[in-house]
Amino acid sequence: MSANYQHELVVLFGQPVAENPTGVMQEAGFAACGLQWRYLNIEVSPERLADAMVGIRAWGIKGMNLTIPHKVAVMQHLDEIAPDAQIIGAVNTVRRDGDRLIGENTDGKGFLRGVRLDANVDPAGKRVVMIGAGGAARAIGTELLLAGARELVVVNRTAERGQPMVDHLKVQTNGDIRFEVWDGAYTVPADVDIFVNATSIGLYPDVVMPPVDLSAAQAGMLVCDAVFNPPETPLLAAARARDLPTLDGLSMLVYQGVIGFELWTGAEAPEAIMKTALREALGV
Ligand SMILES: NC(=O)c1ccc[n+]([C@@H]2O[C@H](COP(=O)([O-])OP(=O)(O)OC[C@H]3O[C@@H](n4cnc5c(N)ncnc54)[C@H](OP(=O)(O)O)[C@@H]3O)[C@@H](O)[C@H]2O)c1
Repeated sequence: MSANYQHELVVLFGQPVAENPTGVMQEAGFAACGLQWRYLNIEVSPERLADAMVGIRAWGIKGMNLTIPHKVAVMQHLDEIAPDAQIIGAVNTVRRDGDRLIGENTDGKGFLRGVRLDANVDPAGKRVVMIGAGGAARAIGTELLLAGARELVVVNRTAERGQPMVDHLKVQTNGDIRFEVWDGAYTVPADVDIFVNATSIGLYPDVVMPPVDLSAAQAGMLVCDAVFNPPETPLLAAARARDLPTLDGLSMLVYQGVIGFELWTGAEAPEAIMKTALREALGV
């Protein structure tokens, strides 16, 4: 009997990467599927990204994740960018097709899968309000519009950030999207089906409620939070106190990893095992 000591590799490039727990979730998934794969967090400086990408090709690396500060810069080193990642303007996942490296963005797709599978809501035809206009909002907004949301209202404190994002997504997706500046408390209107917090308000250690008023919300409005630390945010607690269904940021985080796993390995991801590993790594 001959042994096989060869491993396939998936790497995370970023700076810093030491505290990023994605690899724990991915390696739990690899092990559960009997795959001899490893996931390595590798710190790469912006000046070294081009050299590091040559290494990806030389080593035949199976896949990548990118985090700050490489999500935009990596795009010039790839052979193809998926259409949604092109619209988002950032790549957080790279998959290999033969010798070709293809850029994907799984953040918004992960959010969408959570809405569909964990909250049992189909975003097609829904009216959505999303607070925030940063990287997470851009990814979530793109996927919601591509999935056929009827209307997306983006509410952001800084108009200089929110308005250009909305203008861009309107042109790129042809969707019904508009911007409102967030000035004081925002009251979520009664006709909204899905409300999303895509700001960092509520993120540990400043675990606070965003200045939004849910008192006019219709019964059944889904309240989603991109913040995953803690998973139980004051926003989700306020929603539950009103008997509104909720979706936490852990769902998005797990599913973006699940989608990456499936793109790299072609295997069905063991979602429950990956989620448990991630929870343990985060201590939540
Ligand atoms: N669950 C997941 O898988 C996942 C994935 C990615 C990100 N996230 C989470 O999503 C959140 C946003 O991340 P990001 O990368 O989009 O960050 P980002 O690019 O820095 O954007 C932050 C957004 O939050 C808004 N904001 C922050 N503090 C605010 C305050 N006090 N009042 C009003 N608005 C405020 C900003 O508004 P201005 O434009 O006015 O500054 C901006 O719209 C973070 O909590 C992150 O951890 C989760």
